Amino acid sequence: MIHFVLLLVSIYSVANLFPSCLAGHYNAADTYVGKDFLTGFTHFSDPDPTHGRVNYVDQATALRLNLTVATADSLIMRADYTTNLTSKDPGRNAVRIESVKSYTTHVIIFDINHMPQGCATWPAAWEVGGKWPDEGEVDILEGVNDNIPNQSTLHTNAGCTMPSTRQQTGTSTGTDCNVATTGNSGCGVVSNKPNIYGKAFNSNGGGWYAMERTSTFINVYFWARNDASVPTDVKTGGNTVDTSAWGTPVANFPNTSCDFASHFKAHKIIINLTFCGDWAGSSFATAEVCPRIGSCDDYVDKNPGAFQNAYWDIASVRTYT
Ligand SMILES: *[C@@H]1O[C@H](CO)[C@@H](O)[C@H](O)[C@H]1NC(C)=O
Ligand SMILES: *[C@@H]1O[C@H](CO)[C@@H](O)[C@H](O)[C@H]1NC(C)=O
Ligand SMILES: *[C@@H]1O[C@H](CO)[C@@H](O)[C@H](O)[C@H]1NC(C)=O
Ligand SMILES: *[C@@H]1O[C@H](CO)[C@@H](O)[C@H](O)[C@H]1NC(C)=O
Ligand SMILES: *[C@@H]1O[C@H](CO)[C@@H](O)[C@H](O)[C@H]1NC(C)=O
Repeated sequence: MIHFVLLLVSIYSVANLFPSCLAGHYNAADTYVGKDFLTGFTHFSDPDPTHGRVNYVDQATALRLNLTVATADSLIMRADYTTNLTSKDPGRNAVRIESVKSYTTHVIIFDINHMPQGCATWPAAWEVGGKWPDEGEVDILEGVNDNIPNQSTLHTNAGCTMPSTRQQTGTSTGTDCNVATTGNSGCGVVSNKPNIYGKAFNSNGGGWYAMERTSTFINVYFWARNDASVPTDVKTGGNTVDTSAWGTPVANFPNTSCDFASHFKAHKIIINLTFCGDWAGSSFATAEVCPRIGSCDDYVDKNPGAFQNAYWDIASVRTYT
């Protein structure tokens, strides 16, 4: 035991002398499983800043209506799928949670069994600072209407751009991260990995999304549930992770022409589900899974049954520092 402690101390000292030796090595910080989400996260119940046809409910209401269900090994967060609404109602009940803790440089791994699916849905798992967009936003998983794009995106203020050539498997949709010049689109990367989003993700049993934020890059990774290449540390939720063994990320955002220290501050983790709004609403008219007639808001109001699969089932969220 004593030898073991000494060994740890010496590894620690060596790491301090040569930080780059252990680049990619992180230790477990916070683990959120089941009921941990009820204390480690708060339910947000203000109006949706992206103008969705949603009514975010607080934790007590979510638990009472069975929209948030925390069991020993999972967290379910769903939308109401039984109530017909009128245009006078504030929107369809749904849940948005945000972490109590904030994180700067870290690794986060989302083990997700099921994500909200269906026409009009706009789910997201992301991180954001207190003052938007000055403190930055990192969208890890985001999409609308079950279709394209399955996107990872940075949103910043002026002066942060991405190089066109990067070490990533995904495809860049824009290089300027400044929300003011991109109509809030930011700099996105879409992925063509199979089973990465929506119905295909769900019927395949879900998978893992991970993000690594250092002072010089932000990387986003994805592995489907049955992907043979999922690293053991990701799969087992280990006490340590080594991102240097994770392969090429889906999205790579280097600091080549973006000063991370001034564009990205401490971020909270947010998991949300909204309907229609700025993005899902504008693609309602063309989305494959939508009726493509009438308005998105009207569809949400009058088709409660269509939201039966609009739920998150999250096995865990783990952070490492
Ligand atoms: C939901 O998530 C997306 C993620 O990009 C975000 O833009 C939007 O503001 C979120 N909506 C709410 C109400 O949190
Ligand atoms: C609440 O939701 C859970 C998970 O979807 C389900 O197993 C349970 O039966 C529901 N309870 C009620 C009272 O509807
Ligand atoms: C919702 O409205 C539709 C028709 O407008 C009706 O068929 C359905 O039964 C209603 N559902 C509920 C739960 O009231
Ligand atoms: C998003 O994921 C779905 C399901 O895996 C896939 O069909 C679609 O092509 C993907 N979109 C992009 C832009 O990669
Ligand atoms: C990117 O990070 C490196 C290493 O910390 C630093 O030397 C460089 O100045 C950074 N670049 C920008 C544009 O901030």
